[in-house]
Amino acid sequence: MSHGLLKGKKGIIFGALDSNSIAWKVAEQAHAEGAEFILTNSPVALRKGELNALAEKTGSDTVPADATSMEDLNKLFDHALEKFGKLDFILHSIGMSINVRKNKDYTDINYEWLTKGWDISAVSFHKVMKTAWDKDAMNEWGSIVALSYIAAQRTFPGYNDMADNKAYLESIARSFGYEWGIRNRVRVNTISQSPTPTTAGNGVKGFGGFIEFAEEISPLGNATAEECANYCITLFSDLTRKVTLQNLFHDGGFSNVGVSERVMKRFEK
Ligand SMILES: NC(=O)c1ccc[n+]([C@@H]2O[C@H](COP(=O)([O-])OP(=O)(O)OC[C@H]3O[C@@H](n4cnc5c(N)ncnc54)[C@H](O)[C@@H]3O)[C@@H](O)[C@H]2O)c1
Repeated sequence: MSHGLLKGKKGIIFGALDSNSIAWKVAEQAHAEGAEFILTNSPVALRKGELNALAEKTGSDTVPADATSMEDLNKLFDHALEKFGKLDFILHSIGMSINVRKNKDYTDINYEWLTKGWDISAVSFHKVMKTAWDKDAMNEWGSIVALSYIAAQRTFPGYNDMADNKAYLESIARSFGYEWGIRNRVRVNTISQSPTPTTAGNGVKGFGGFIEFAEEISPLGNATAEECANYCITLFSDLTRKVTLQNLFHDGGFSNVGVSERVMKRFEK
């Protein structure tokens, strides 16, 4: 059900790859709530062609941008500023680890791959915000959100160097968010989402186990991609203007539960 929460708001959505992507659901919800936005992804993702369907459905332009390239980001923001003027929201929904993809153990990590994955998954958030900052691209009370995972705080075997990338990402949100708050009253937060079956999620070794375990621990069960999109909409709306510098758990309660009765039963003698 639409409430017009984003009526008149303009933004950029990074990271919709296919209809399972969290960013895809955010784009659908943002459109339903009255927002206009540009859809962007890496040139290789755009060549897959799936994004065109979403662009058509939401009346959006698609602009290719490797989120690690300042040149690409400059062009993207120039396009957005020309089309919309200043922006009200940005979603950073980007993650990739070559070490995860290639099943490298954390104790045997390839440092070139680590650096690349760190740049894509964490530093790109700084690059996106720096581009917006230099171009003075955000309206007052705008909102910038990136997606994170609880492996930033707690160890999940198999999540590998993405855990470190998420810790870095969350720190960037606080450090840059402070600057944005002072200068423009723009808020910056990360959402720490439940394990979700997407291309990035399914790439993690033992991911099915993460999902099942989290489902059994969380009193409300895992949060879906659609539910995550709803939460993003609230953060882009004017109803959350004083929420900033936070890592917000959107996980059905998982992060604050030690153990559930469902899990305990398995160990009772
Ligand atoms: N799926 C989960 O379980 C889960 C849980 C918590 C957080 N997250 C986070 O949510 C975000 C979105 O992931 P998702 O689960 O929707 O998976 P996804 O695979 O659909 O999205 C990841 C996106 O990153 C993009 N990307 C990769 N390299 C890029 C680059 N160089 N430049 C620009 N874009 C690039 C991909 O093209 C893709 O669209 C990620 O930050 C992910 O870590 C996912």
